[in-house]
Amino acid sequence: MNKNKPNSFVQHILALSESEVVDLCDAAESAILDGGGFGWLSPPPRNVLERYWRGVIVVPERDLFAARFNGRIVGSAQLVIAPGNNEAQKYIASITTNFVAPWARGHGLARQLTLACELRAKKRAIKFINLDVRETQEAAIQMYERLGYERWGTNPNYAVVNGEKIAGYYYTKKLGSQKRGGKSKT
Ligand SMILES: CC(C)(COP(=O)(O)OP(=O)(O)OC[C@H]1O[C@@H](n2cnc3c(N)ncnc32)[C@H](O)[C@@H]1OP(=O)(O)O)[C@@H](O)C(=O)NCCC(=O)NCCS
Repeated sequence: MNKNKPNSFVQHILALSESEVVDLCDAAESAILDGGGFGWLSPPPRNVLERYWRGVIVVPERDLFAARFNGRIVGSAQLVIAPGNNEAQKYIASITTNFVAPWARGHGLARQLTLACELRAKKRAIKFINLDVRETQEAAIQMYERLGYERWGTNPNYAVVNGEKIAGYYYTKKLGSQKRGGKSKT
């Protein structure tokens, strides 16, 4: 075994320890500062971020996946399904908040996070996954397109960042139609 090879994997998170919340907050802050925050343009106060992560795991419609790199959580993604009253969207889910801290990128973790969400979606009998990204999130766009997500629309007024209007791309994928490219061990 190569001792220099980073130990990286993805796991489904059902409960969060104190140190895992700290890791998630650290990773999220660095991704936000790098410009790829999930909605946030500057890091919110630490207690707000901590409450956010603790909240995610108690929402039944959300599955949280964490990416670990050499022992620490460095990124995450969420699979979100429709609430029980929304029968029309019973078979539809979305993937949100898919990010990896800048220092842990390029090791296949975001791909593994996405594939873990897809696997969980299949177990939840989901048939389609929808997601959206800012047009500036080039790495995410390339990743989703390589994983078989089909861009079906563009919203020219998707976001405003530093006073500039940014378009957003909308994607959909029919589960079971996965293209090659998945290297996940999950
Ligand atoms: C997008 C992001 C999650 C990718 O994380 P990552 O762990 O480095 O990605 P992976 O190593 O799993 O790479 C998966 C694929 O993404 C694409 N990709 C990754 N980095 C890329 C880059 N710098 N430029 C272009 N494509 C890139 C590639 O298609 C890659 O597949 P390949 O290795 O076969 O070429 C990360 O850059 C990030 O956190 N960005 C900011 C947040 C964001 O944009 N989130 C998505 C919307 S919420």
